[in-house]
Amino acid sequence: FKNRVFSVWRYFELLPIKNREKIISLKEGGTPLYRCRNLEEELGVKELYVKNEGANPTGSFKDRGMTVGVSKANELNIKVVGCASTGNTSASLAAYSARAKMKCLVLLPKGKVALGKLAQAMIYGAKVVEIDGNFDKALDMVNELAKEGLIYLLNSINPFRLEGQKTIGYEIADELNWEVPDRVIVPVGNAGNISAIWKGFKEFYELGFINELPKMTGIQAEGAKPIVEAFKKGKREIEPYENPETIATAIRIGKPVNAKKALNAIYESNGYAESVSDEEIIKAQKLLARKEGIFVEPASASSIAGLIKLLDEGVIDRSERIVCITTGHGLKDPDAAIRACEETIKVKSLDELKKLLSS
Ligand code: F0G
Repeated sequence: FKNRVFSVWRYFELLPIKNREKIISLKEGGTPLYRCRNLEEELGVKELYVKNEGANPTGSFKDRGMTVGVSKANELNIKVVGCASTGNTSASLAAYSARAKMKCLVLLPKGKVALGKLAQAMIYGAKVVEIDGNFDKALDMVNELAKEGLIYLLNSINPFRLEGQKTIGYEIADELNWEVPDRVIVPVGNAGNISAIWKGFKEFYELGFINELPKMTGIQAEGAKPIVEAFKKGKREIEPYENPETIATAIRIGKPVNAKKALNAIYESNGYAESVSDEEIIKAQKLLARKEGIFVEPASASSIAGLIKLLDEGVIDRSERIVCITTGHGLKDPDAAIRACEETIKVKSLDELKKLLSS
């Protein structure tokens, strides 16, 4: 695949779609891997990259999963798809299903979805339903519909979604000329992505394309950290959170369906799991924007916040080669960004404006 453009479909032969004509694509993947020299200096680390998944067509990594999941649904001649979502999955599914001429139902936790994501699901024409209850309840509901055969479910329980997302691992290795990073840090919610990325690296290892594997490091929010708790107790089973809470609404999830797979990825790779507070998340979001010009949503900033915390704790060595995954674009959640910043400045005259420049 060396002569092909960087995208999910660069790796066609390693994806579970047989008929190229059935592919539904908005040109996903091929996201930038930024070397972050300013943050390296700030944090005193040797080699730090950010893989910015916010650069996907609908602004999150979900597009990698959806192009494969919806293409598979297309191969299977499916007409109605659905999902539960904290926002990004629904935005992505709404777009891909529109392109595939499928009906789309999305279930969202009322009042807990960032504005940009809600706008996306609505404008792409999905049937948008807001429920009283959190993501976990919404997922239980769509699961029932799927069991009755009323919708084809495109949450990350769907294995084809994870097949698409494993290309994040492929791409990192491919872009770094097969020199694998020591560590990959990933925000964790429903726990599909960290599992998928690990699968990608392992497949490249088994194919002999790479000789090493990264330590998979999962970051959750303080108020929704069942996987971190299980990891710290050395367990493979989680105890669900009934009322998960965090400013990072994308990962406000108490009962991650892929928890076992994620814990397996963490244990198998000799990785780690840690949680970060909302305050640490906002601080990291601003730091990444102000030091590197990369604007991500709060959930995504948790990978940077996690890096900072684990450096402080001495879990991560400063000489490691590190890749932080930022999962969603900052414009998804403009309210959170505005709240995180100082007020805008008001001036009454040109003189005041000049004073401002000299202060
Ligand atoms: N970051 C962002 C921006 C997300 O939207 C999500 C998940 C995650 C991280 C966590 O990924 O679930 O694979 O561990 N969002 C889902 C959604 C739940 O509905 O959009 P995960």
